[in-house]
This record gives sequence, C-alpha cells and structure tokens, in this order.
Amino acid sequence: MNTIRSVSDMQQWACATREAGRRIAFVPTMGFLHEGHLALMREGKGRGDYLVVSIFVNPTQFGAGEDYQDYPRDLEGDTEKVSSVGGDIIFAPSAKEMYPSGYQTFVAVEKVTQNLCGASRPAHFQGVTTVVAKLFNIVKPQVAIFGEKDYQQLVTIRQMTRDLNFDIEIIGMPTIREEDGLAMSSRNKYLSSEERKQALCLFNALNQVEKLFQGGEKNPKKLIDRAAEIIRVQPAADIDYVKVCHPETIEDLERIDDKALMALAVKIGKTRLIDNRVLKN
Ligand code: PAF
Repeated sequence: MNTIRSVSDMQQWACATREAGRRIAFVPTMGFLHEGHLALMREGKGRGDYLVVSIFVNPTQFGAGEDYQDYPRDLEGDTEKVSSVGGDIIFAPSAKEMYPSGYQTFVAVEKVTQNLCGASRPAHFQGVTTVVAKLFNIVKPQVAIFGEKDYQQLVTIRQMTRDLNFDIEIIGMPTIREEDGLAMSSRNKYLSSEERKQALCLFNALNQVEKLFQGGEKNPKKLIDRAAEIIRVQPAADIDYVKVCHPETIEDLERIDDKALMALAVKIGKTRLIDNRVLKN
C-alpha cells in the first residue's frame, strides 16, 4: 500500500490506472477510521480493481468555533486499518496542498442543503461539495462510496454529481452501529462514559418513532414530539433539530404519504451527534 501526499502524484497514478483500463473505487474520509469507514472500504474493494482512501480533515467544512483543530487525527492507525481491508492507496494531502494561497473557487448545491445540518452549519455543505469535487478530479474514480449516516451529505453529493456531470457512480451504504445501537462516528471519541450512555437516546428515539410510524402514525409533528420527548429525558442532551422531511428533496413534510426521513442532530455535552432513519410503509 502507498501513501500519496501530492495532488499531481495522485493524478498521475489515477491517469495511468485508468489508461491501463482499471477501475478505481474511492472512499473519501476525514480519518480516525472506525468500523463504519471499513465497511465502506470493503464495499469499495468489491467494486473496483483498486481502492483509494482519502484522509483529509477538510477545513472548509468546519464553521468558526467548530472542532477543526480538535478533530481526532491518527494517520498511523488509519494506515493499518486501510491496509487491513486491502486498500491500495491512501491519499493524505496537507491543507496547503488542497487550498494553496490564492484559492478562490467553491461548489455550492442549493436546495437540498438548506434544511437540517445546512441550516445549523451554514458553510458546511459548501465545504463538503468543494472538497469532494476536488477529490473526484484528483482521484478520478469510477465509483465512490459514502455512508448513509450523513444522509443529507449523500443526497447533496448525488445532486452535485448529476449537476456537474461527474461520470462517477455514487454508492450509499447503511449506517454501522455499536453493539447497543449508537451510530459509529469519529466524534464518539469526545464522549465521557456518562455521555456515552446518554448518547443512546438518538437511537432509542428513532426506534420509538419507527414503532409509532409502523403502528399507523403518519403525522410528522406527533413523531417529532415523541422523539424530542425521549431525547430531552437525558440531562446532557440539547436538541439542535428533530425533523421529518422528504428523503430526496430534504424539505420538511406536513404529512407522510409513502416514505420520510427522520433526522436528528443532538448535542450530548459538547459533542454534536447526528442520526437518521428512513420511515417506509
Ligand atoms: O463524511 C466525511 O467524512 C466528509 O464530509 C467527507 C465526505 C470526507 C468530505 O470531507
């Protein structure tokens, strides 16, 4: 396995690989890899001749006062993990390599980024789509794999890929959870042991909402109230949003006809966690 740090070396490898008629599968990450990332990589292994994993904590997707500086980093541990699933290349550029001085171009997807995390973290998705567009041009994959835990991110990247005619297949993979149901996230590392227990309220809320929905409750307000009630029992929990929206347009729903996305963002202490469930008849 090779670690590549420069954009031009990565592009050269990608061009040569494509010229040889080989298929590149790509998993973009911000590192501090966990089982959720490894599941994306195993999927990538099966979908390409070569698996490229990027590890880049992208400054443009963090707002002022967010955790860019503190975001956990462990390139050595990550390298072992990528190697353990048979990854071929790690692309790990510096921030300067990706955003050299004088950088001034950004990619913004308009509508699907307005609600949920886009409302709470204004420049976040513009940072995500900008870096993913750049990574697509650098790694030149035929297929890229993303997790459904970041559901709005996946919808946004699908939209960008269509709109900008990237010739790349986008694959979404189900959320991987800890044994008790907490969605895996690099940010779980921030939780104290007491907060870790309370963090389960997100998964519990989704389960209760699913039960209500399957029992015939189709009124988003009732589902939202029930989820919020379960989360608020936990003293460390502070709700950012609890919403029911259309799974493709990400607009709030007044009534559920066929399917809906229940999306949660909750601060547990200082740690902001997200989770979601697609509710289907
Ligand atoms: O999901 C993530 O880890 C990041 O948002 C991504 C897609 C790697 C872009 O920085």
